Amino acid sequence: MEPSEREEAARERVPRIDPYGFERPEDFDYAAYEEFFSTYLVILTRRAIKWSKLLKGSSSVQKSMRVKRYIRKGVPLEHRARVWMGVSGAQAQMERNPGYYHQLLQGERNNTLEEAIRTDMNRTFPDNVKFRRSADPCLQKTLYNVLLAYGHHNQGVGYCQGMNFIAGYLILITKNEEESFWLLDALVGRILPDYYSPEMLGLKTDQEVLGELVRTKLPAVAALMDGHGVLWTLVVSRWFICLFVDILPVETVLRIWDCLFNEGSKIIFRVALTLIKQHQAFILEATSFADICEKFKEITKGSFVTECHTFMQKIFSEPGSLSMTTITRLRESCRAKLLVQG
Ligand SMILES: *[C@@H]1O[C@H](CO)[C@@H](O)[C@H](O)[C@H]1NC(C)=O
Ligand SMILES: *[C@@H]1O[C@H](CO)[C@@H](O)[C@H](O)[C@H]1NC(C)=O
Repeated sequence: MEPSEREEAARERVPRIDPYGFERPEDFDYAAYEEFFSTYLVILTRRAIKWSKLLKGSSSVQKSMRVKRYIRKGVPLEHRARVWMGVSGAQAQMERNPGYYHQLLQGERNNTLEEAIRTDMNRTFPDNVKFRRSADPCLQKTLYNVLLAYGHHNQGVGYCQGMNFIAGYLILITKNEEESFWLLDALVGRILPDYYSPEMLGLKTDQEVLGELVRTKLPAVAALMDGHGVLWTLVVSRWFICLFVDILPVETVLRIWDCLFNEGSKIIFRVALTLIKQHQAFILEATSFADICEKFKEITKGSFVTECHTFMQKIFSEPGSLSMTTITRLRESCRAKLLVQG
């Protein structure tokens, strides 16, 4: 078959809307996706059988070496909410605080907060049919509630752009408002160090930490960035704020989040370093400031990131060792530098 015929045939077989409700982009490569997915489906099926055995008879999922190994190989969609709830501690928090979520929604309203959240509603996943105002049920309302409750719960953070995308994904996976709230709390309150507070010190720190890791592991890229005066925040801030939502393909983001909930924020560095290392030669072709920014957009596209299973294997091998001790030390020194700069 000619490539165009293959693409045509694949277009007929692969649904235009993915299982999560997202419309596939105009330039979606149906033939490549179909080829990847036929292999991935075999892996998914094998993993699903293993997970069913592991979870049989147990009500909650606890962290363990075995669970970690399983999670790195991917959590089947039907178990994803339960696994995220278990390993992140969200389940335990929810059980310890019955009724709390609903109280947050019944309490006194804060107009500033509500206005900020409302403004972002139409901007959250316009490409997802479940978030359209005509959808039934329309997930905009659910999203609104989760964000409002969170803003009341964590007043130091309130609402910050980026949280809408994260809560949106949580809702798509859990299909449950209260669980989404507790998972958001696990991420914002415990897993990510201070990414969403007004000063965003944790976020700024982690961007600098990435810069330092690149300096050690991929010095040529660091030299290029320095040479053209490109700040890391310009090219990677959305990776951190949105946790790769709307940056990498949906399935890949979910595989990353599987590990993020279980292993914590260092997973974000592994993903970022893998993207940069894999495309090092391509990035080094850049000859200007604008070029560099463009390259960093390009490296989040294509088969390398679509093939999520191989991609996830790479994040644990490509960047080499990355201990929590190293990250903690770098966080301390970068944070101190930022505070001095004010
Ligand atoms: C969102 O879109 C709907 C329908 O298009 C519109 O009625 C509504 O005013 C918009 N909301 C905001 C906050 O822009
Ligand atoms: C209302 O929310 C805004 C934004 O999150 C916050 O700055 C403000 O302190 C809140 N006001 C009250 C009375 O809680």
